[in-house]
Amino acid sequence: VSDYLLLAIETSCDETSVAIVRNGREVLSNKISSQIDTHRQFGGVVPEIASRKHVETMTLMLEEAVREAGVELSDINAVAVTQGPGLIGALLVGVVAAKSLALALDVPLIGTHHIAGHIYANHLIGDIVYPAIALVVSGGHTEIVLLEEEGKFNILGRTRDDAVGEAYDKVARALQFPYPGGPHVDKLAQEATEEVVLPRSWLEPDSYDFSFSGLKSAVLAEINRSRMKGETPDFSGLAKGFQQSVIEVVTGKAIRAAKETGARQMLLCGGVAANRGLRERLKELCEDAGLPLLIPPNKLCTDNAAMIAAAADLKWRRRQFSSLDLKAEPILSL
Ligand code: KG4
Ligand code: ZN
Repeated sequence: VSDYLLLAIETSCDETSVAIVRNGREVLSNKISSQIDTHRQFGGVVPEIASRKHVETMTLMLEEAVREAGVELSDINAVAVTQGPGLIGALLVGVVAAKSLALALDVPLIGTHHIAGHIYANHLIGDIVYPAIALVVSGGHTEIVLLEEEGKFNILGRTRDDAVGEAYDKVARALQFPYPGGPHVDKLAQEATEEVVLPRSWLEPDSYDFSFSGLKSAVLAEINRSRMKGETPDFSGLAKGFQQSVIEVVTGKAIRAAKETGARQMLLCGGVAANRGLRERLKELCEDAGLPLLIPPNKLCTDNAAMIAAAADLKWRRRQFSSLDLKAEPILSL
C-alpha cells in the first residue's frame, strides 16, 4: 500500500485545529489555536464568538499545518472534518472549510464523529485490541463505550446530567478559579492534605450511567455551610473530596464494564484524561485487573484535529466517503 495523507479539521467547540496525518497514524502536524483566553472573561464558551474566531483563524491553521508537515496541499489524499456533535456555528466553519478544500483539491471528504476522534486518538499511540472499553471524559461528554471491533461503538453508559469536565469547571468556579478550571482543581486536590468526604453517585447497581450534578451541589452546599457559620471553607479539602469521588466512580464503572464485557484493553480519552489523579488510579486498577491501558498524551486528549484524522482513517480504508452536501450536526449519535 502506498503512503497517503489525510488533512483533518476540528472546530466543534473552542479549538481551531488542522492536522496532517500520514497513513492514518503518523502525525506530521497538529496545529491547535485555543480560544480560551477570549472566552475566559465570560466564564465559559460563547458560541457566537467561537464561530467568529474559527473563521478568523482557519486559514492560518491550514497554512501552518501544511508548512509544518512539509507537504504540498496537492499531496493531500482526503479531507476529514468533525461533523458533530458540537456547537452548530463552530462546526459549520470547519465543515465549509473542509468541503471547499475537498472540492478544490478534487479529493474525498470524510465526515467524522467528534467522540470517535477522542477514542481513536489512542490509535495514534498504540495498537487497539478488541473488544476494548473506552472511558470518554471531556467537557461535553462522559461515556463508557464498548468497541466490539474496529469502528463499532456501543455506548454502555453516559452522564444523565453534567459531563465530568463540566462538573470540574463548575466546582472550579465555586473555588474561585478561572475557566476552564479542571486543571486547577486537579492541582489543588493533589496538594491537599485533608479530604472533605463527599457522596459517591453510583446510581442503580447495574448501571453504567453517571450523575455529577449532586456531587457539584454537595460542594456548593459545603461552601455555603462554612460561610454561614463564619468559617473559611476548606477549598483544598473540597477539591480533593470532589476529585476522589469522581475518580472512584468513573474508574469503578469502567473497570466493571471491562470485566463484564470481557474487554482486552482499556482506553482513556477526552480532555479530563489529562487529570493526574484519574490517570494514576486507572493505571493501578488496570494493572490489578491485568488489563492493558492506553492513554494519549495531553495534547491528543484535549480537542485536536489529529484525533479526527485517526478516526477518519477507519472510513478512508473502507472508502466510506461523505458527499459534498455533508451537514454539520450539533447532535449526532456515535
Ligand atoms: O475534550 P476537551 O478539550 O473539550 C471537550 O470536547 O469538551 O475537554 C475540556 C475539559 C474542560 O472541562 C477542562 O476543565 C477539563 O477538560 N480538564 C480537566 C483537566 N484538564 C482539562 N479536568 C480535570 N483535570 C484536568 N487536569
Ligand atoms: Zn472534545
